[in-house]
Amino acid sequence: MKHSVLPVAPGPIGVFDSGYGGLTILSKIREVLPQYDYIYLGDNARTPYGTRSFEIVYEFTLQAVTRLFESGCHLVVLACNTASAKALRSIQQNDLPRLDATRRVLGVIRPTAECIGGMTHTRHIGILATPGTINSGSYPMEIRKLFPDIRVTGVACPLWVPLVENNEADGDGADYFVRKNIRQLLDKDGEIDAVILGCTHYPLLLPKIRQHMPGRIQIVTQGELVADSLRGYLQRHPEMAARCTQGGSCVYYTTEAEEKFRESASMFLKEQVEVKQTVLND
Ligand code: DGL
Repeated sequence: MKHSVLPVAPGPIGVFDSGYGGLTILSKIREVLPQYDYIYLGDNARTPYGTRSFEIVYEFTLQAVTRLFESGCHLVVLACNTASAKALRSIQQNDLPRLDATRRVLGVIRPTAECIGGMTHTRHIGILATPGTINSGSYPMEIRKLFPDIRVTGVACPLWVPLVENNEADGDGADYFVRKNIRQLLDKDGEIDAVILGCTHYPLLLPKIRQHMPGRIQIVTQGELVADSLRGYLQRHPEMAARCTQGGSCVYYTTEAEEKFRESASMFLKEQVEVKQTVLND
């Protein structure tokens, strides 16, 4: 795909996640920006990404971004912290100039980091995320650039995404692992007064997280933050807004079986969705 000098046809906004988690971001984006068309792509067949290597997450994410570009998207949101942590910078710096320098890929870490300064009094915050996101160090790095006085402590929660993907978010197993990881975090730093749920799957565990998190601690979810940030981006970049079609539609693609996605997605979105299977391996 090369940058063309001919007028380009506008297209939907692409939203990508390793699985269902990005639906928590998509639904907030659609609340804030209902006028646009969207394509959601979930790599459910290869989820979770959070325990995979840098190279594999980068390779899979690049395949997804390329597919969304081929589907007509000029703007793609990586609604996945793991992909944002491990692939976004390489794609922006190395792949976009080669694929099409006029297209844009945005992530979820920066918009979250930008808001955290106003959410903590103690200046001690926690991050709960996948092993991939925690080990990347992306959150402390982004937050330090903006708020050098904030101390950031992270704990990896390797079982939380599989619990959500396997519809076990309400089960006893979820209680056990949610309690365990929250305790690990607060044992590391007892002064934390705000905790970022740094994985787009985690809002689906919110009832359990609220149950096991001390009430004095603010729980920060990303949906509204990312949606507001995208609205701001489109206002600041009218040339990109003009390349995003406005028909209010949303189509869904999954790398898993359509039936499986339809069942689970409708639970997360509280509506029936039409979904098509796709293969990402080129
Ligand atoms: N929703 C992804 C995230 O925000 C899940 C990661 C995974 O697939 O492990 O990190």
